[in-house]
Amino acid sequence: MKVGVFDSGIGGLTVVKSLLEHRLFEEIVYFGDTARVPYGIKDKTTIIRYAIEAVEFFKNFELDLIIVACNTVSAHALTEMREVASCPVIGVVEAGILATSNALRDKESNILILGTKATINSKAYEIGLREQGFTNLQAKATGLFVPIVEEEIYEGAILEATFKHYFDALKKPDAVILGCTHFPLITDALQNYFSNETVFIHSGDAIVEQLERDFDFSTKYTTTKLEFFASENPEALKNVAKKWLHL
Ligand code: DGL
Repeated sequence: MKVGVFDSGIGGLTVVKSLLEHRLFEEIVYFGDTARVPYGIKDKTTIIRYAIEAVEFFKNFELDLIIVACNTVSAHALTEMREVASCPVIGVVEAGILATSNALRDKESNILILGTKATINSKAYEIGLREQGFTNLQAKATGLFVPIVEEEIYEGAILEATFKHYFDALKKPDAVILGCTHFPLITDALQNYFSNETVFIHSGDAIVEQLERDFDFSTKYTTTKLEFFASENPEALKNVAKKWLHL
């Protein structure tokens, strides 16, 4: 299977990492819209327009599937992408809801949803989780984590101050949804801040869980052909990919 992975920038590489670890695909074509990131502060109409352009870009490849690694796009533009795509399109929000439901038996669990402003404002996770019977939900837009991670800050005083700023007034959660591609990189710091018991829902692992449920992956690929494209400075994206994916 040949898959396209789309993100607003470099963050979707955390999803590619999970796909590679599970050796699901023969070929992965990654597109990061680095010229126009961040999407998380933009409005729905703009996010949809950019997402449709990404589908058009992917038409240059014969893809079997498009994975939307970006939570912001998954929350706002999946329907519109499906309308113009010539292959199935799946997104990380739906996968995250499913993974949360599988991970938590207790419907009273306190779930903290983190994401960009656009993702949180869409209420996509809240609506989906309520449909699954969860009622004890908190949601927080934590957009500052995006530039912090892009600066490769994964621990320390800046992050601690940001945690305090965002989380001081919240109830300690049983589970945290890392509803943004960048957030898995600060899981350890978040775990230290909350507790070792806190369950973390990671978009990459969630999409693997959904893929393994919905498709037949009896063939495991020993190597995966990777191609990286970016709307600006593809070399910078390739360098981050080398580092994050240990290529
Ligand atoms: N990729 C985005 C997401 O997962 C985060 C970065 C952005 O704001 O574009 O929501």
